[in-house]
Amino acid sequence: RLQNGLYIQRYAPMLRIAIPYGLLASYQLRKLAEITRKYDKGYGHFTTRTNIQLNWPKLEEVPDIMAELASVQMHSIQTSGNCIRNTTTDPYAGIHQEEIADPRPYCEIIRQWSTFHPEFAFLPRKFKIAVIGTANDRAATQVHDVGLHLKTNDAGELGFEVIVGGGLGRTPVIGKVINEFLPRQHLLSYLDAILRVYNLHGRRDNKFKARIKILVESMGGPAFAKLVDAEWDAHIKDGPLTLTDANFATASSFFTEPDYLSFDALQVQSELQQTLDGDKDFANWYQQNTVAHKIAGYRAVVISLKAGLVDGSYIPSGDVSESQMDALADLADKYSFSELRGTYQQNLVFADVQTNQLYELWQQLSELHLARANINTLTDMIVCPGWDYCSLANATTHNIAEQIEKQFDDLDYLYDLGEIRLNMSGCMNACAHHHTGDIGILGVDKKGEYWYQISLGGNSSNNAKLGKILGKAVPSDDVATTIQKIIDVYLEQRVSNENDVESFGDLVDRVGIAPFKEKVYG
Ligand code: HEM
Ligand code: SF4
Repeated sequence: RLQNGLYIQRYAPMLRIAIPYGLLASYQLRKLAEITRKYDKGYGHFTTRTNIQLNWPKLEEVPDIMAELASVQMHSIQTSGNCIRNTTTDPYAGIHQEEIADPRPYCEIIRQWSTFHPEFAFLPRKFKIAVIGTANDRAATQVHDVGLHLKTNDAGELGFEVIVGGGLGRTPVIGKVINEFLPRQHLLSYLDAILRVYNLHGRRDNKFKARIKILVESMGGPAFAKLVDAEWDAHIKDGPLTLTDANFATASSFFTEPDYLSFDALQVQSELQQTLDGDKDFANWYQQNTVAHKIAGYRAVVISLKAGLVDGSYIPSGDVSESQMDALADLADKYSFSELRGTYQQNLVFADVQTNQLYELWQQLSELHLARANINTLTDMIVCPGWDYCSLANATTHNIAEQIEKQFDDLDYLYDLGEIRLNMSGCMNACAHHHTGDIGILGVDKKGEYWYQISLGGNSSNNAKLGKILGKAVPSDDVATTIQKIIDVYLEQRVSNENDVESFGDLVDRVGIAPFKEKVYG
């Protein structure tokens, strides 16, 4: 059951469907829309590991759902259980000017190797890999079991920095570099060695100590690296798992560039400027929800799945209705080469949109409530389902997110606050990465009541670190007002000059949590 992504939850099974490295074709999204209409309650939930979850399938209909998924090359295999899960990557892979190399071919190589791998189907615990191809980490690689950073050596050859033993959950740990440069042909044999060492030495007596992070912590990064090297050298290095140029060429052939048109960059810019000048709402969306592209005349568009309150009702982070899915599939066909991507922050991306079509795309997304210009602001929250669906939860999350939405509903105010990542999990399993939010909220159960513990100063990017707990948990009615007090300290204490405003994260780094503590607990 678990290896097919099926969890038993509070009201119904939950089915987690894999979206390999977050890449989704429009015809697949249309099929997902149809499935949610036919077998579920007409919506899906996009997760931090770029999968999609259905909350209401009937157990007896799951085989039919699987058959429908297979008709569009999709499945739910290895989306749960103690095996190698979906590999994730940067949602802007292939379109960044500063990319060292496109990570997607390597994700695909890992996907083919890890799917149905007989030796690694029953690991001590689940195993998650993330790969990035830019210096900037947008895939939270340091809190994965293995994080792979593409880089070149002095000879210009491609390889990976290998980070092992990151993870969140009840024992959050930042991963450790065990290999500064692994030549890319050794990717699979080296991963194999890591998995073998973990499979053999990882603890199976206690599931809370079974993740690779516990093993690496217990022996230290260098000792773990030594074991991996010994296994690698003795048995598998330069063996059949060694990747060839032909392997790389095949994998890369799945990720060729779409047929971009050529544009005169200056002309595109001047036309865009006129549109931006004429419409403030569009200008805000452009600023917040679009991302630079390596091809002149194109931008990536982030589709906010954080609509917040729509006609007075709160839409949970990451939720998309079947009609929105159908409409997004049509828009992807029209504006972005029929492709969508999932992000770690539970949003979607159109990676290749012509700049001169942004305005009409924005208008159509707005009608669908998918153009809220709040990307990277406080309300671009990562939120897990909490007690509304999850049987492991200690507390609800959606009602708290709604409370925060009501408190912080002014976009201009949010823009003034700048980038703030708020992540909220309903229990210590940390599915919503509360440890790595600038502001983290963790639901706790105190004698049957929901309370919320707040942490500050976490980060999942290059400067990955775990937030520090502010103090005792606050009752559910006080969460948004507590966040407001924290924000007030930021506004009072941040330092600005004419070019720069100190970010929330930088302020917490500089002053620590004491002033926030003082304000909240007096
Ligand atoms: C609703 C049913 C869900 C259940 C029963 C569930 C279960 C769990 C458990 C038990 C863990 C802790 C694993 C450990 O510490 O070894 C975990 C971690 C995690 N889950 Fe979930 N989860 C659910 C939904 C989600 C959702 C909706 C997301 C994404 C929004 C998600 C993403 C993650 C991530 C990213 C982690 C952290 C992995 C780590 O520790 O490295 N899960 N989940
Ligand atoms: S963090 Fe806890 S409550 Fe939230 S989805 Fe994960 S297991 Fe459930």
